[in-house]
Amino acid sequence: MTLVKMNKISKIYNKGKKNQFKALNEIDFSVDEGDMIAIRGSSGAGKSTLLHIIGCMDTQTSGHYYFCGEYVKDMTQQQKAVIRNKKIGFVLQDFGLLEYQSVLDAVSLPLLFSNEIPVSKMKKHCLEYLAEVGLQGYATKTVNELSGGEKQRVAIARALVNNPSLILADEPTGALDEENAYNVMKLLQKLNENGKAVVIVTHDSDIANMCKTQITMKYGELKSADEK
Ligand SMILES: Nc1ncnc2c1ncn2[C@@H]1O[C@H](COP(=O)(O)OP(=O)(O)OP(=O)(O)O)[C@@H](O)[C@H]1O
Ligand SMILES: [Mg+2]
Repeated sequence: MTLVKMNKISKIYNKGKKNQFKALNEIDFSVDEGDMIAIRGSSGAGKSTLLHIIGCMDTQTSGHYYFCGEYVKDMTQQQKAVIRNKKIGFVLQDFGLLEYQSVLDAVSLPLLFSNEIPVSKMKKHCLEYLAEVGLQGYATKTVNELSGGEKQRVAIARALVNNPSLILADEPTGALDEENAYNVMKLLQKLNENGKAVVIVTHDSDIANMCKTQITMKYGELKSADEK
């Protein structure tokens, strides 16, 4: 099944103004079930811009985007919010966690919005996902008590609790040392083997080499698609 289908996607920031800037230039890009794709490219190439549009957090200036066969431009804000909450899990370089929240509260947050699971079952559900990322026994710890690698695993558990079909990770290992970066990538590989499609933005060739496919962006264009 095709999750993401993009045709000729362009993004112009500040369109019509003096500081207008074309960040994406007619990108064709797709993500199928089972994919694990690294997006590489230098700073300013448009990687995060592309990821934000895939994640329905931003909209293209022109071009067509279908998510699971649905035309995203025709969706209401509410429909896009449901996709962001249930269909896509986001993982960010700086983890996106509140420092003084408990691990359990951090992981359960997306469940509070989705209404999929009764409150009485949320804790057990979250503990299962914490176990999946190797953080058994961490539920009552506070986020600021954790190492960077542990924080990223909490963020991944949070990205997983609504069982999304796609994980979007923007420099997920950028703030981690080599060992923790490797462990986070092993975890993302395991999730991919278990059926999640994964798209990772990275500067790091070792990280990119752990993905099934690599593409490179340059000045808002996709430059190559090297099948590994
Ligand atoms: N909100 C914005 N308004 C105006 N220009 C923007 C905005 N966001 C990004 N840009 C510009 O668009 C270009 C692409 O930005 P983007 O963040 O997608 O790059 P990137 O490849 O993710 O870079 P990095 O590796 O540094 O994160 C950059 O030149 C940036 O300055
Ligand atoms: Mg970026």
